[in-house]
Amino acid sequence: MKNEIEKIEQEAIADTSACKSIEELKEVEIKFLGRKGLLPMLLRKIPELSSEDKKTVGQMGNVLRKNLEEKIANRYFELEDQQEENEFFDITIPAKPLEKGHHHPISMMICHIEEVFSRLGFTSISGAEIDDDWHNFSALNVPKDHPAREMQDTFWVKNIDDHVLRTQTSNMQIHYMEANKPPIRIIAPGKTFRKDSDATHSPMFHQFEGLMVDKNVSLANLKWVLKTALSEILEKEVELRFRLSFFPFTEPSLEVDASCVQCAGKNPNCKVCKGTGFLEIAGAGMVHPNVLRNAGLDPEKWNGFAFGCGIERILMVKYQIDDLRLFYENDLRFLEQF
Ligand code: PHE
Repeated sequence: MKNEIEKIEQEAIADTSACKSIEELKEVEIKFLGRKGLLPMLLRKIPELSSEDKKTVGQMGNVLRKNLEEKIANRYFELEDQQEENEFFDITIPAKPLEKGHHHPISMMICHIEEVFSRLGFTSISGAEIDDDWHNFSALNVPKDHPAREMQDTFWVKNIDDHVLRTQTSNMQIHYMEANKPPIRIIAPGKTFRKDSDATHSPMFHQFEGLMVDKNVSLANLKWVLKTALSEILEKEVELRFRLSFFPFTEPSLEVDASCVQCAGKNPNCKVCKGTGFLEIAGAGMVHPNVLRNAGLDPEKWNGFAFGCGIERILMVKYQIDDLRLFYENDLRFLEQF
């Protein structure tokens, strides 16, 4: 029995180091240590031995089993390392492209607007999406009985008196004038909220406000600033048309139309401007003296212009998108086009 154990030992050690692959090594392991392997089969005969031999052979067998297990395990690691070294790694294969996201088209447009206006000397500010009646309405000369204040148009905040989700970015005019002295040149992009929902209206949408307050500011200044900025934002030289309108916080008040980005007024059948040659793009006007007074400025000394423009509206005109809801549905087929 002892001789046989020694024979198994020599053979097993030789076989193990002769293995060239993990598959071969697995076979060696089964041959010597498997359930019907040489060593277990031999050890099964121990009960037939004399009691003295039982003890020595049993011990020898256990030592051998431990040794072999260790040797085979080490050989596994060696073979694994070799296999890795032999694997062909082609460093010239181009890497798989990483899927990269980008900003939402509305955020990209806000950045673009900020950049264009910063070159015209306008600082971008943001704030107060929830605001009080004073900043959103009263200081802007909106009378107590104005329809815009009504429940069906405005989200009033429950449990906080006189607070609304701002209906316009014009509230930032008041905030800024309260805290800063003229000359003022700001834009204020951000979210606004109204109870409205269809293909061209959303209960949450974005606007940017513009405000310039200085001495002897004129409508001509407003027209030049808007024409210069909108031409850059729309990436198309546009002409502007001013139509008389009404806002409580400007006098005179205007609707601003830009010449059609698609046909520039040359195509009577144009789908974008419906043959009118113009697209409605902003509300604007000269800041009402009451608004200056409410913000602590003397209207005899200072005057200015203000404008407000829908950011989704700009995107829809620029890229000819006909459903506003596409901006909020997180559909990658839409978003990836920007
Ligand atoms: N706040 C107006 C609106 O939301 C737009 C506007 C801003 C008009 C500034 C005039 C001056 O419709």
